[in-house]
Amino acid sequence: MIRNKLRRIVEYTPLYGRILLKTEYPITEYRLQQLSTDELLSILKHECHRIEKSIYNEIKEEKSEYYAEKKKRSEKVLELLESREHNQKEVISWATEILKKYDNLDEEFIKKKRREPDQLDWGAAEDTLQLVKSRRSVRVWADDQPSKEALESMANKMVEAATWAPNSGNRQAWRFKIITDDETKQLLRPIKEEHTIKAPLLVFIGMDSRVYGALGRNERSLYIDAGAAIMQMVLVGHSTGLGICWNHFADDLINSRDANKEAYDEFAQAMSIADYIAPIAIVAVGKAEYIPPIPSRPDTEAFKM
Ligand SMILES: Cc1cc2nc3c(=O)[nH]c(=O)nc-3n(C[C@H](O)[C@H](O)[C@H](O)COP(=O)(O)O)c2cc1C
Repeated sequence: MIRNKLRRIVEYTPLYGRILLKTEYPITEYRLQQLSTDELLSILKHECHRIEKSIYNEIKEEKSEYYAEKKKRSEKVLELLESREHNQKEVISWATEILKKYDNLDEEFIKKKRREPDQLDWGAAEDTLQLVKSRRSVRVWADDQPSKEALESMANKMVEAATWAPNSGNRQAWRFKIITDDETKQLLRPIKEEHTIKAPLLVFIGMDSRVYGALGRNERSLYIDAGAAIMQMVLVGHSTGLGICWNHFADDLINSRDANKEAYDEFAQAMSIADYIAPIAIVAVGKAEYIPPIPSRPDTEAFKM
């Protein structure tokens, strides 16, 4: 019983061993000031999203105090961000508009910005399904690869696709590193397989762990959000005909051996990856030498419970 009570008030974030009190949320003005710019931006995205959602759920009036608190907190965050450097002007405009039109959000924001749904196109599912089914994990790379510039431009498109993924509470916590130089790839040798090191392009995906757990009370979502983003980047890359392989690179793999930990530390240092970034995956990209055989999947019925 005491144990349960303790568990309820103490939130333990396993990745970084931070113990924080649940009662810390809603975040106080003092605590907001202590937060990094990235954390503030994430809170702004999260809180304004929640305010907007209250219209769809028709609960803004009923829970007026709760949402007024969110508005106040978001305004404070906006104020703090005024004196901070960042490159997310679009987010500031979006949030400012929501807060400005707070009293009449449905009429002045949602009705003005929404669009009509698309015509139903049942046939489109078949095309998308074919794209999804034709994706294979590629591990053998062709000798003639696209130029570094072409690969980097593709990497940027893939990152763009990832950032449009659905994500819990609109936190948008994913972070990326694009790697084409051999020196950096070699740092991964103790942890990853040969086919990964040999890939022409690698994209590292990590998540800003600071905006989950204690700040957001949503730590499982860190991995779920990452998965959604990675899948979008994989599909966009695959749609061009490039070969892709999703490579596991999360903390369970890194912490499984001292050699892995050391290699990750060296890689993270070389790439300036902060310790609050939870590593998730390395997506390998390049022109495939061939598309490997299909690892058979049973009929969908076999997966139904
Ligand atoms: C979360 C995740 C981690 C993976 N990690 C690796 C990896 O570290 N090395 C590797 O060669 N393949 C990795 N893969 C690829 C899987 O082995 C592959 O998706 C699976 O065998 C099915 O084959 P297919 O992708 O061609 O359909 C990973 C896939 C996922 C989704």
